[in-house]
Amino acid sequence: MQRNKCIILVTLPSIIIFLLLFIIFFNVQVLKPPPPNASFKLPTINPNQTQFSLMIGILTRADNYDHRHFLRLVYGVQSSPLATIHVKFVFCSLTKPEQRALIALEMLRFDDILILNCTENMNNGKTYTYFSSLPRLLPRKYDYIMKADDDVFIRFEPLALSLKALPRVDLYYGFVIPCASMDPFVEYMSGMGFLLSWDLVKWIGSSEIPKETVVGPEDKLVGKWFKMGNKAKNRFSNKPAMYDYPGTNGRCSHELIPETVAVHRLKRWDQWLRVLEYFNVTKGLKF
Ligand SMILES: *[C@@H]1O[C@H](CO)[C@@H](O)[C@H](O)[C@H]1NC(C)=O
Ligand SMILES: *[C@@H]1O[C@H](CO)[C@@H](O)[C@H](O)[C@H]1NC(C)=O
Ligand SMILES: *[C@@H]1O[C@H](CO)[C@@H](O)[C@H](O)[C@H]1NC(C)=O
Repeated sequence: MQRNKCIILVTLPSIIIFLLLFIIFFNVQVLKPPPPNASFKLPTINPNQTQFSLMIGILTRADNYDHRHFLRLVYGVQSSPLATIHVKFVFCSLTKPEQRALIALEMLRFDDILILNCTENMNNGKTYTYFSSLPRLLPRKYDYIMKADDDVFIRFEPLALSLKALPRVDLYYGFVIPCASMDPFVEYMSGMGFLLSWDLVKWIGSSEIPKETVVGPEDKLVGKWFKMGNKAKNRFSNKPAMYDYPGTNGRCSHELIPETVAVHRLKRWDQWLRVLEYFNVTKGLKF
């Protein structure tokens, strides 16, 4: 009897101490991770302030598992109080047995994959299939839909800020090509990352014009469709905030600048690292 009491007396405090340690650990490690970017000061999101919604579809290939995970990390630490922003990875029909298992796992875990009914290609209609399938594939409507490459780094806060005052309809936004052009109507937005309002996405899916012109440089075609259909009267070319990584593409490139919305042509780790460092993405963490 005495001995049992003794054990209870000894174990009770240890259980309490253990619980306390557990709670402290949880609070610090799980509930309150250090802010991903101290100088960014991520504001708490008031849903009533959310002014618009945006889906960013990153066109990639099913087999690019590692890169997809990297991009999930890069975009997972960003948000904007101005907008609901969802990132999804987009590719054509699966072709290998192992993809069915691995992609299914990703879908169950992250719910961020869209599979189009097409054969993997770049300039053979994937962008058309992407936009024209969205109204059917997405569980909800967004104010804006973006098409982005998987070698571009997009910054949500400046992007949302730049969209805040722009029209929500008939909008075609991006980095206008040719590189030296400052006229958003001459001629089209670069495939690095361009954004359409929802009405234009629906138009692409329903008009006969895009359907008949699907083969060719994907970004150039989009500009051609709008020209032929007399659409996208609201245009915005975000220079110099969008550009190619320094030294990679002549007049499309320039040095990194604080007001950046998107940097393109990140093909190597040293380029990604320089960008993450420059934009203080991991600065809040001390090791
Ligand atoms: C958001 O709006 C709803 C309804 O107007 C209100 O009840 C709620 O308190 C608001 N939330 C915040 C965080 O302001
Ligand atoms: C996928 O595309 C092919 C060829 O265009 C078509 O025959 C087929 O019906 C499509 N499948 C679905 C599920 O839409
Ligand atoms: C990164 O942080 C440094 C130091 O706080 C600051 O001077 C710089 O402007 C920040 N860079 C950007 C792009 O916000």
